[in-house]
Amino acid sequence: MYILGMESSCDETSAAVVEMGDGIRAIRSNIVASQIETHRLYGGVVPEIASRAHIETISRITYEALEMAGVTIEQIGAVAVTAYPGLIGALLVGVNFAKSLAYAKNIPLVAVNHIHGHVAAAYLAHPDLKPPFLALVVSGGHTSFYRVEDDTEYVEIGGTRDDAAGEAFDKIGRVIGMPYPGGAALDRLAYEGDPKAIQLPSPALAGDTLDLSFSGIKTATLNYLNSMQQKGEQVNPADVAAAYTDKIVKAIVQKAELALRHSGMKTLVLAGGVAANSHLRAGLERMCQKLGVRLAMPERAMCGDNGAMIAAAGYFEFLKGNFADTSLNASASDDGL
Ligand code: KG4
Ligand code: ZN
Repeated sequence: MYILGMESSCDETSAAVVEMGDGIRAIRSNIVASQIETHRLYGGVVPEIASRAHIETISRITYEALEMAGVTIEQIGAVAVTAYPGLIGALLVGVNFAKSLAYAKNIPLVAVNHIHGHVAAAYLAHPDLKPPFLALVVSGGHTSFYRVEDDTEYVEIGGTRDDAAGEAFDKIGRVIGMPYPGGAALDRLAYEGDPKAIQLPSPALAGDTLDLSFSGIKTATLNYLNSMQQKGEQVNPADVAAAYTDKIVKAIVQKAELALRHSGMKTLVLAGGVAANSHLRAGLERMCQKLGVRLAMPERAMCGDNGAMIAAAGYFEFLKGNFADTSLNASASDDGL
């Protein structure tokens, strides 16, 4: 069956047509309209501007997604839309559009949890993937471990107590001069620096907990930059990128290993925008190889927000008969509707 996936939770408007079925995981189209250039002027996402940009774009990209897929709206078996979590004004644009389309064309509508969407991107790359597995979602808004026993039911077992890793990368990226969002640029710059050049605290909380905290390393890095400036000394941004990335990646890998040992899971799924980080992918690959655990990741290009991942997650809701009706609302919170 063909599923139309719609995503508008943050700063990407996306529509995709995905063919899902027994053993079929084919992306027919996946149009992503990024607003990054607009938000870059402000150094971060401006929610009001994001909502307005979604409104302007959503109809056009939906037509484009259908056209590129060579599929008519009558052939669509379900409309899947991100309903939570995210920026509320941004989510409402996608939800309202999907609802109207589903109602007008009499197509089943399913509401998708954005986090489940990120994980479903791994299903597109690994068609044989099946729960149970441990999911690690690392994005601009999340850094969490989930025990996934069932395609649509996730249990959070640990994660950050404050900022998300993506937020932490973007923040330091900005102060060392990277354009927003700094995550991908910091990833590349880290190869040119010395990770031991600066002493920074680990974001892994001590003990048997699976929790992390990124506020300490962020503050320590800002303090280092301020003190260097006060002393009139030159900062090497590559060393900052290398040391910061090294500590963050090691902490996430350390807690992922603990989560695998605690849960006894034999598969780890890495997902979310920060799953594109090459250092994190390499660190988790080494750890999983050591433990004899399968590591399933989306392709790097599929780690960021996109409609195809929402369509893939929507398929599992569809199979369970979890349909939404015209009273569907959006929610900013992880707890859902
Ligand atoms: O999942 P996503 O597209 O949006 C949210 O749901 O939050 O994630 C966006 C985040 C941004 O913080 C961005 O800087 C980060 O993912 N990111 C990266 C890389 N590519 C994107 N962070 C580190 N390394 C990367 N290569
Ligand atoms: Zn996301």
